[in-house]
Amino acid sequence: MKAISIKNPGQAYVLALAEAEKPRPRAGEILVKVVAAGVNRADLLQAMGLYPPPPGASLTLGLELSGEIAELGDGVVNHKVGDRVCALVAGGAYAEYVAVPVQGVLPVPKNVSLVDAAGLPEAHFTVWTNLVDTARMTRKDSVLIHGGSSGIGTTAIQLCAARGQTVFATAGSVEKCKACEALGAARAINYRSEDFVEVVKAATDGKGVDVILDMVGGDYIERNFHAAALWGRIVNVAYQSGSRATVDFSLMLRKRLTLAATTLRPRSNEEKGAIRDALLKEVWPLVEAGRIKPLIDGTFPIADAQAAHARMASSHHIGKILLTL
Ligand SMILES: NC(=O)c1ccc[n+]([C@@H]2O[C@H](COP(=O)([O-])OP(=O)(O)OC[C@H]3O[C@@H](n4cnc5c(N)ncnc54)[C@H](OP(=O)(O)O)[C@@H]3O)[C@@H](O)[C@H]2O)c1
Repeated sequence: MKAISIKNPGQAYVLALAEAEKPRPRAGEILVKVVAAGVNRADLLQAMGLYPPPPGASLTLGLELSGEIAELGDGVVNHKVGDRVCALVAGGAYAEYVAVPVQGVLPVPKNVSLVDAAGLPEAHFTVWTNLVDTARMTRKDSVLIHGGSSGIGTTAIQLCAARGQTVFATAGSVEKCKACEALGAARAINYRSEDFVEVVKAATDGKGVDVILDMVGGDYIERNFHAAALWGRIVNVAYQSGSRATVDFSLMLRKRLTLAATTLRPRSNEEKGAIRDALLKEVWPLVEAGRIKPLIDGTFPIADAQAAHARMASSHHIGKILLTL
């Protein structure tokens, strides 16, 4: 089969289509004929040699995909050949075929095309488990989503808005801020020209927000403490501005804050299955009702994976970038 290979991992990596061995589904896995794969920031880091796949994962790039089931591994009972699915994987999605543990598989929601469904899994698994499982977010909580125009951000804004919550988001341009507000943010904050702490405080009568989803880190770590309400919960999914900072933790103590950070990719199939079950129950109905949509920035043929990565590296995108097969 064809798959994308990384020609020279490092800063000047090159992605090219090459022949690869077709995977075979093991017990508890399905083989999917891929129709589209999502591009994630983690793929760029992996190609640069900065984010190695967890033990046992495919070395091929790609954390999410959509397609049709081509084959069932032993013991798989709740799926059949020909089903249209989207799925989360620990690697291997930039390929014609990928073997997927059933715990990462979701049906393609009504209302969403088979191609666009490739942009659902990684963002929804990440957003749900971080906001709800880790930050214990309820429907009454106000939230601040950093990186509001990212794949993660556009998903988080829509989820919280659909649940009736007040959402603030940060983004790096006027156009991106408009997109965040169109998705349901009550107020988007252009972090290049405004101070998110001041805006959030002014908009909440000085109270701050209950939950913060952060992918920036660096000086945001302490600034998040200022933007959080009493008993606020802050969860980091990345540290794009740095994982080291000088922080005054006394504010955390005084405001009774919780600070957490998690990764999704190395989690066990059982943990992923529990998140999948929650998505099916709580989120897929909102997607099927059209209240949450995958926001697609653009699609590239898989042979142009390099151009898709360049688009993400430029940070001009709003929402998800997809590869089609
Ligand atoms: N921990 C996990 O399990 C997990 C899972 C999935 C994703 N992630 C992480 O989540 C992040 C988003 O992933 P993605 O694939 O959706 O990537 P993406 O679309 O490229 O998102 C990166 C976003 O970060 C924003 N950003 C950068 N600096 C910022 C700042 N100072 N203030 C506010 N926003 C800032 C960018 O906005 P501007 O261009 O406007 O600056 C961009 O929207 C990535 O860092 C990824 O590694 C983590």
